[in-house]
Amino acid sequence: MPSVGYERMSSEARLWQEILEEAREEADGEPVLSDFLKMTLLERDSLEDALAFHLAQKLATRTVTVVALHGVFSEVFAADAAIGEAVRADLRAVRDRDPACNRLSVPLLYFKGFHALQAYRVAHSLWSGGRRGLAQFVQNRISQAFGVDIHPAARIGRGIFIDHGTGVVVGETAVIEDDVSLLQDVTLGGTGKESGDRHPKVRAGVLISAGAKVLGNIEIGEGAKIGAGSVVLKDVPPHTTAVGVPARIVGSPREDRPALAMDQSVPPFGGEGI
Ligand SMILES: CC(C)(COP(=O)(O)OP(=O)(O)OC[C@H]1O[C@@H](n2cnc3c(N)ncnc32)[C@H](O)[C@@H]1OP(=O)(O)O)[C@@H](O)C(=O)NCCC(=O)NCCS
Repeated sequence: MPSVGYERMSSEARLWQEILEEAREEADGEPVLSDFLKMTLLERDSLEDALAFHLAQKLATRTVTVVALHGVFSEVFAADAAIGEAVRADLRAVRDRDPACNRLSVPLLYFKGFHALQAYRVAHSLWSGGRRGLAQFVQNRISQAFGVDIHPAARIGRGIFIDHGTGVVVGETAVIEDDVSLLQDVTLGGTGKESGDRHPKVRAGVLISAGAKVLGNIEIGEGAKIGAGSVVLKDVPPHTTAVGVPARIVGSPREDRPALAMDQSVPPFGGEGI
């Protein structure tokens, strides 16, 4: 039963308390995980500290140690409060959109799409601050550890859900706005025929389904939905559904922001080319 003090907490503090509550319950019920949960969550000062420690454990190498990476991640989180806000929005996005997950602690501890995104946020901050070598080291480790390759220069909003993670590739000049959902094996890549600004711009609320290849400096309009396995080579207008190889418009999503509802049905066929 939440106390009066709990009700007075900020929503950020409540989120961390909820995670700790879940971890305590799990540690009590599963002794094998008890030390892991203590070190990773229960003995940490904040969500940022827990995430910095956990990512450092996953991304350290023999020569770039857990202690060194924990320090770097903590420093980046402390320098830019916007990253912590994005982390919280992403955590809520997974809990709200993933039918396989109804707890905040689960993506934080176990989902590699979430881990890859948060480590990218650190790499992006390092890249933007001129520490490009370290950013590329983190990019390389994300790709080795999680099977997700996001260029540190890519620009990604908040409230992002990368489900499963495996095989997701996001190129250097790609943009992903807020409240977007990407499933496994999505590529936001170049065509290989352009240079400079050559990657897709994905507007808010878009859902891109498993295995879709979105190629070139094209725009996926707000609230659009892309079907699994599609190859998208041209702009997709806002609030439309595109499917196929090459992709064509087959209708409109029922909802304004398909990324939030995660309704993966497509309208009846008979669409037009794009
Ligand atoms: C994007 C790419 C397919 C375009 O090749 P292209 O030869 O210039 O072809 P165009 O874009 O002019 O398209 C020619 C036709 O083939 C179609 N087409 C293109 N790719 C297709 C595909 N994968 N499957 C089926 N048809 C395809 C186009 O729709 C177009 O049809 P249309 O003439 O009826 O409009 C090619 O450059 C490519 O695959 N590049 C590699 C991209 C990649 O792997 N990027 C990942 C980087 S991380």
